[in-house]
Amino acid sequence: MPEYAQVANHARESVLGEIIYDAETIQRRVGELGREIGDYYEEGELVLVGLLKGGFMFLADLVRCIRRPHKLDFVAAASYGASKESSGRVRLLYDPETDVTGKHVLLVEDIVDSGRTLNRLVRVFRERAPESLEICALLHKRVARGSVLEPRFVGFDAPVKFLVGYGLDYAEEFRHLPYIASLKE
Ligand code: IMP
Ligand code: MG
Repeated sequence: MPEYAQVANHARESVLGEIIYDAETIQRRVGELGREIGDYYEEGELVLVGLLKGGFMFLADLVRCIRRPHKLDFVAAASYGASKESSGRVRLLYDPETDVTGKHVLLVEDIVDSGRTLNRLVRVFRERAPESLEICALLHKRVARGSVLEPRFVGFDAPVKFLVGYGLDYAEEFRHLPYIASLKE
């Protein structure tokens, strides 16, 4: 049995649909993104701000592929409860202590769906007068309307399905999976 299947079993395989991005595909793309980011920021101080909790695994892998000095911090915003639909409200639960004024800030997000979470965070960070503000999203469903800032770095254009794994959860489950899968309808 491949390792994936074992992990999936452990994560209640019966509710998982198909694997959309396997672990190897994700790692390859994250490596490319890391190199792209390293090349993009030629000068200045760079701070990566990872969105908790969904972005934790992506951020951890990404920073190991950015061959350039940088700092990292986290921000916690919640827009979804135990539901597959955005509630439309975004709450800031943790606000990073790192001073970002005059620095290049890169927000690192797991997935862009309605874009509401990022719209809120972009407004919050713009007020802190960074040298620049950009977004890196592993997945982009390309359904967001009226985004205040489009991600400069995107891993994959994702299908408009509810996805879990590699940080993404459904009711707090499945975050540990090394791959990304859809849920059964
Ligand atoms: P948005 O504000 O609608 O763009 O939603 C962004 C947040 O919702 C992401 O940071 C995820 O935490 C969560 N989210 C959106 N789509 C999915 C999905 O397909 N699976 C799991 N979480 C998702
Ligand atoms: Mg989430």
